[in-house]
Amino acid sequence: MTQTSLRQTATPQNSPQLIPALNPQFLPKHVAIIMDGNGRWATRRNMPRTIGHSQGARTLKDLLRCCSDWGIDALTVYAFSTENWQRPLDEVNFLMMLFERMLQQELAEMHIKGVKINFLGDLTALPVTLNKLVKQAIELTQHNRGIQFNVAINYGGRADITKACQAISQAVQRGTMQVKDITEESIEQHLCTRGQPAPDLMIRTSGEMRLSNFLLWELAYTEMYFTDTLWVDFDKQELQKALAVYQQRKRRFGRL
Ligand code: FPP
Repeated sequence: MTQTSLRQTATPQNSPQLIPALNPQFLPKHVAIIMDGNGRWATRRNMPRTIGHSQGARTLKDLLRCCSDWGIDALTVYAFSTENWQRPLDEVNFLMMLFERMLQQELAEMHIKGVKINFLGDLTALPVTLNKLVKQAIELTQHNRGIQFNVAINYGGRADITKACQAISQAVQRGTMQVKDITEESIEQHLCTRGQPAPDLMIRTSGEMRLSNFLLWELAYTEMYFTDTLWVDFDKQELQKALAVYQQRKRRFGRL
């Protein structure tokens, strides 16, 4: 995975709703988001946490459209971590049902808009019906040329790196790979994000300032943006604020 510079592809004509303060030439190519705070959003309104997740799904739908309209190449969202299985069963079941429902309702429209969908994580542990929908969505949209939309479900950065180490060790054991061939590039080839550029900007909502096992390898030189705004309230204006902060950053990738 090669880190991208601020060389960008967005053009003024495909970003009609961008505020003038943003330079469409210097948008991040790849935005990654930890969509946090759904539970708190609902609890503060005396509603069940699941309502927060449903509202969060609407926010995601809106922001995917914005990113696509503005010419951002890729959006990666953390929908369910390997640790989230430890939540109450009702909430886990609701989230799985929500992912399924969103796919059923939105897939056709996303396909028409050229969205290319991918899923990150160990999908074998997902309910059979969701797993089937996930595979259908990947297959249906694989040749699309619009925004790359990565949904991390049952994803953990450590688990992904561990799996890569296992696959590489097996290749060395079989003799199809030599120790000297273990490089950053070959490790990247074994991660579930293989072939995709690293995120330029990582956003986490709800005031928490940690990575929570999200894209641990891929975020090495990513710009971080943390906001107190809860995910449900993270609207187009909030995203533009994050993009404006990103455009103020000087990216050096360890150089001077
Ligand atoms: C974190 O908030 C959020 C999640 C674990 C679920 C994210 C899911 C969505 C936004 C639904 C839409 C996703 C797709 C792919 C359709 P939290 O529950 O940890 O909030 P809290 O920290 O306030 O408890």
